[in-house]
Amino acid sequence: MCGIVGYVGSKPAAPIVLEGLKRLEYRGYDSAGMAYVRSDKLVVKQSAGKIRALEAKMNGAMPDVTVALGHTRWATHGAPTDVNAHPHADCSGEFAVVHNGIIENSALLKRQLIEKGHVFKSETDTEVLVHLIEDYYDGSLRDAVIRALENVEGTYGLGVVSSKEPGTLIAARNGSPLLLGIGEGENLFASDASAIVQHTKSVVCLDDGEVAEVTRDGYQIVDLDSVEVNKQVDTVEGDRDTIEKEGYPHFMLKEIFEQPRAIVDTMRGRLQEEEGTARLGGLNLNDKELQSINRIVLIACGTSWHAALIGEYMLEELSEMPTEVEYASEFRYRTPLVDENTLVIGISQSGETADTLAAIREAKARGARTLGIVNTVGSTIAREVDGGVYIHAGSEIGVASTKAFTCQVTALALLTLRFGRLRKLSVLQGREVVQALRKIPEQVSKILENAAAVEDLAERFSLAQHTLFLGRGYNFPVALEGALKLKEISYIHAEGYPAAEMKHGPIALIDHMMPVVCVAPQDAVYQKIVSNIQEVKARNGKVLAIVTEGDEDIAAIADYTFEIPETLDCLTPLLSVIPLQLLSYYVAVKRGCDVDQPRNLAKSVTVE
Ligand code: G6P
Repeated sequence: MCGIVGYVGSKPAAPIVLEGLKRLEYRGYDSAGMAYVRSDKLVVKQSAGKIRALEAKMNGAMPDVTVALGHTRWATHGAPTDVNAHPHADCSGEFAVVHNGIIENSALLKRQLIEKGHVFKSETDTEVLVHLIEDYYDGSLRDAVIRALENVEGTYGLGVVSSKEPGTLIAARNGSPLLLGIGEGENLFASDASAIVQHTKSVVCLDDGEVAEVTRDGYQIVDLDSVEVNKQVDTVEGDRDTIEKEGYPHFMLKEIFEQPRAIVDTMRGRLQEEEGTARLGGLNLNDKELQSINRIVLIACGTSWHAALIGEYMLEELSEMPTEVEYASEFRYRTPLVDENTLVIGISQSGETADTLAAIREAKARGARTLGIVNTVGSTIAREVDGGVYIHAGSEIGVASTKAFTCQVTALALLTLRFGRLRKLSVLQGREVVQALRKIPEQVSKILENAAAVEDLAERFSLAQHTLFLGRGYNFPVALEGALKLKEISYIHAEGYPAAEMKHGPIALIDHMMPVVCVAPQDAVYQKIVSNIQEVKARNGKVLAIVTEGDEDIAAIADYTFEIPETLDCLTPLLSVIPLQLLSYYVAVKRGCDVDQPRNLAKSVTVE
């Protein structure tokens, strides 16, 4: 994800900023840039690719400056090219801006600015900011930034530098983290403490709606009405590794806890409540083209394949679209029957999984239209498909996928709304789904507040050798995902099964030593899974049931229950999977396993 580093002091600023950007590399990015003022002139260097490409562009020689502003970009609007890399400069070449976040009304602002004569160079949403600042500048950089921000909707962590005020940097925040590092005769700011912690441990965290004017000798923070805000100076504890994990012991736990925010980011700007649908600009298909599609094939691997299964249930139930799910590795080597009316959708967190990529190529070669549901912007799958939906989950570092899964399911719900409203879904039904989706992030937060209860349960699972995960309907894929998570990181043998299938084999394994996790929210198949739980209990199995809040019936028969809030059937996986992610995490920790890098597994499987 994007990173920002700004420095103003007396030391050489460029190497400090570059070093800070390198410390943000772990977040993932696809281009980098830096701006500084030399001999009263603003200089901007941008480069696609890694920071070393930017260094090469600077000819290996660091400019002799004491103020600099740097950025690593993780593309959202526009491909990862030199021109789209930040910083972005205005028409006069006197102002430069770096930005994390998304300016949601950028299209409108861009049209207005072009009418006023501004010339845009990039495809980014960010560039509107620097042209607005240019327009508003009237002797105070800070005031110009504030006036520009009054016009924008969306999220930002912002850094601004200008040849008009060479000893000053401006930072601003709304929904995208930014903190100041307070030093002696030098001050910094960054989107992440790990970029500045080697210079100072004294930090001031900006809150939404705050703007900071930073110079070598001090800083002043104001709100958007230019009223000064007095902020507490905090001390950052811990080493760099701890900071990157934001205090969490593992990336996996951090990513589990990031899900409320990540799901909001997947939905951002896409839900259309009035029409009961979702706007997905990246599909590159108009209504007529979408209506010509008569079949969808979802292809994926691993956790993404489980998300696809949930997508199949949603698309068939809510939009009556015939849908199939295939393992990418199988699809690519058989004779898949697809034609120009088939939409083949590859689902991939990394966008680089070799089998998924090859399956998409095979589908294309056979004349199908292709889409990607991808996290990594600019990845190979994202580039090769005809259109797609980015899930905007942010970089996922833990090998066991968590937030990408819930964001993929969210994206599939959006796609279902889009297809559904063109087919059988009424506007009222569509609105009901939109309203329920809006509640999901808060409901996920509520579950996460209860993580300690899952940690207690994990104690009872950590000695198991075999486990069974059961679910039905929308929660059958959740059972598969719960089992996959547990086996991936704790090395306990775990099998996921459709609950009724248990009778056809796994029931033979059940005894008092065998924990059985039943995903049993109160949905259309609730009574059926209650019967399956009875069957397990009749054989002395130990049952942990994931149930809807207030479910006393299952509480009376299961050994342990964990409650999740109520939602629509099709969205229950977004809630029921959370305790299973936590369970696998805490069991793995109790067993002393390497949670973030489990043995034999890779985050991105680029071999078949
Ligand atoms: C690997 C990862 C999984 C992931 C799968 C598919 O096995 O360890 O977490 O689900 O690949 O990856 P993709 O990037 O295509 O979603």
